[in-house]
Amino acid sequence: MKTPPEQAILAAGIEHDWSDVFFPQSSRPPERFLRSSHHSPPLRIQSPFPAEAAATVLGWLEGEAKEPDSVLEVGAGCGRFLRELLRERSHFRRAMACEPMAAKADFLRWIFGPSGPDREIPCRDHLARIHRFTVSHPGASRSGAPPVEVRAATLEELAPEVERNGTPFGLVACLNVIDHVPEPHTFPNLLARVTQPQGYLAISSPLDWHEEFTPRRHWRNDLSAFFRDSPTWEILHGISVPFIFRPAYRTLVVFQSKILLLRRRED
Ligand SMILES: C[S@@+](CC[C@H](N)C(=O)[O-])C[C@H]1O[C@@H](n2cnc3c(N)ncnc32)[C@H](O)[C@@H]1O
Repeated sequence: MKTPPEQAILAAGIEHDWSDVFFPQSSRPPERFLRSSHHSPPLRIQSPFPAEAAATVLGWLEGEAKEPDSVLEVGAGCGRFLRELLRERSHFRRAMACEPMAAKADFLRWIFGPSGPDREIPCRDHLARIHRFTVSHPGASRSGAPPVEVRAATLEELAPEVERNGTPFGLVACLNVIDHVPEPHTFPNLLARVTQPQGYLAISSPLDWHEEFTPRRHWRNDLSAFFRDSPTWEILHGISVPFIFRPAYRTLVVFQSKILLLRRRED
């Protein structure tokens, strides 16, 4: 049986982001995965990016007068950053993840849901074929963390709803998404629509542009360029953090992903 593409992308994402939790040093990479770019075998080098990004953002917020108590992650992928953020701090009272890819949204509901033997991981068959063992739920949320509401939606779909309901967030995180959209220059305004006045935006990107996602005329080589001179956003902090990606078995690519913390000005 051929695996649907979304399931293969999800499986690759789970391997990349959650390998330390799900795939201990045990499994042997099957030969057939050596040739494929999407099906890399279990990563034994864990990208430090999600944990480092979460610690960096929380450290910056500690220095601010008022720490946000609600968080939205836009394009949450497989949820590792949000998990690290919620495990590090308990002051969040409300959490939402928006992710348009249905398979990833299913996985987010699973990973942030309760653990239990009856709750099988989405794409279990695909993962089991790669790893030849069953994956069990790691219990992603710490006690006291808010439930994570998962929306299978783009930011473009979510923004009008958040505005209509008057429920913007104190912290919005958008990691490694802006170089995956056709009109990245529209993102700062869209992100402002889901952020409270005086609220924060944590955004990062390796700026690894591809014409498959973004027309060349919209490519930029500095993330700050999207926010400089903005009447809406004030840049507070910036740092570059290594982001390790493994496109094939013997290839590790290290990006310098810039992380910015911005504050939304009052209307
Ligand atoms: C490279 S992945 C990054 C995932 C995760 N944030 C991380 O850092 O690992 C980009 C994600 O953005 C999502 N995405 C693409 N377009 C989007 C949009 N318009 N609104 C929200 N998310 C989007 C994709 O489905 C994908 O999961």
